[in-house]
Amino acid sequence: MRPEEVLQSIPTAPDSNNDTARNEDLLAFRKRHFLPNAHHYHGEALQLVRAKGAYVWDEQGRRYLDAIGGIVCISAGHNHPKIKKKLMKMLEDDEIQHTSLLYLSRHVTALAEALVAEAPEGLDVASFTNSGSEANELAFMAARQSTGETIIINLRHGYHGGTAATLAQCGHHTWRYRAQPNAQATSALEPNCYRCPFMQKADSCDLECAKNVETTIQTSTHGKIAGFIAEPIMGVGGFIDPPVEYFHRVTEIVHNYGGRYISDEVQTGAGRCGGEFLLSKELDIDADMVTMAKGFGNGAAIGAVLMKTEDAKAFEGKLYFNTFGGDPMQTAQARATMDVIAEENLVANAKAMGRRLKDGMRELMKKHRLIGDVRGKGLLLGMELVKDRVSKEYASEETLLFMDKCKDKGVLVGKGGLFGNVVRVAPPLSLDAGQADELLDVFDRSLAEIPVGNS
Ligand SMILES: Cc1ncc(COP(=O)(O)O)c(C=O)c1O
Repeated sequence: MRPEEVLQSIPTAPDSNNDTARNEDLLAFRKRHFLPNAHHYHGEALQLVRAKGAYVWDEQGRRYLDAIGGIVCISAGHNHPKIKKKLMKMLEDDEIQHTSLLYLSRHVTALAEALVAEAPEGLDVASFTNSGSEANELAFMAARQSTGETIIINLRHGYHGGTAATLAQCGHHTWRYRAQPNAQATSALEPNCYRCPFMQKADSCDLECAKNVETTIQTSTHGKIAGFIAEPIMGVGGFIDPPVEYFHRVTEIVHNYGGRYISDEVQTGAGRCGGEFLLSKELDIDADMVTMAKGFGNGAAIGAVLMKTEDAKAFEGKLYFNTFGGDPMQTAQARATMDVIAEENLVANAKAMGRRLKDGMRELMKKHRLIGDVRGKGLLLGMELVKDRVSKEYASEETLLFMDKCKDKGVLVGKGGLFGNVVRVAPPLSLDAGQADELLDVFDRSLAEIPVGNS
């Protein structure tokens, strides 16, 4: 059965009980009372009300394969029975629902224990926040406090959050604001092999992008830095996936100039890339700090920083407090998520399904000229759409059209890139072969309906 037939054969979501609102009413309210930049992905806004495993349902009972998971947040699958059971039991047992780190809790300790066990060698200290932005803020503070320096180097096209200090490190004009303070941040050029800023070819270059980090330090700082922050695969930037040698060279440079290397694994962590739980460990990146959020909580509002004991020591004598950071319910959900990822071998599954999808997308490339590049690792895959493969003109409108066509056929994907022309695919790590093939079939038929770039 084709996905849309399956979709039609399931008229209502499981346990549908009509407790939904009308889209027109929700949109009208948003228009009046939300910030004007509260946007939605599709031509017509979607209201998602129910979810199970890799599927979500809208208020009409239409089913979609969720290949974006919020934004890269669903790792174990929606409403995983084991995670649900744990949280429901906590509530039924009247376990304390909120307490701060001023009191002891077995849940935050159990989560820290699991994270430290997965961390690269030497990252023995875990600290919790409510989001990825806060995790990066804390990492900046640690790097600055530890080195006594202030400047953090970031990468063009990088994204590290929506708070003041993280936006100062943001490599997209679209996310930045007028009069926003940008002190103590400077950008190096992006390691993007598909659109190399140095006009080099990936197989013959000498990693000019890595050298550029050193040039940036030499030309736009006083010669010492507090740190450097980069994602091992640049998420919002459009799943830009630099060569592994880049990270080895850059960590050396950052350390030579006295800085701390911060690896932002908010999107790449939680086994999504199909190797180790953390991509930094898989790639042997000599990071001093790793920040996480999104997938390791399977949708819980949680972030984390892993750091070396010597950097953590810099906090001695200073106060740091985060009211909800380390909250019992959030940490219990994150630990249960980590347990499910381990028990169900979801990292190995991400590798196998990622390979299946990537091979399938590369096959589609032969048929659809709109696809300029396919990249990524495990189940963090990007498909860059271009109007023309030689000029690489951004196919931004076509990407929106593609997303809508996929949605109409029962598949949700995301997009990224400064010009919004990279399709982002990040389904739950529990995706099965049938679902992977369903997704590829929908991609194939959706691409065939888009005029530009078809052969
Ligand atoms: C790589 C990366 N870092 C940090 C963040 C910020 O996380 P949050 O939105 O939870 O604050 C994001 C969010 O998309 C992200 O993709």
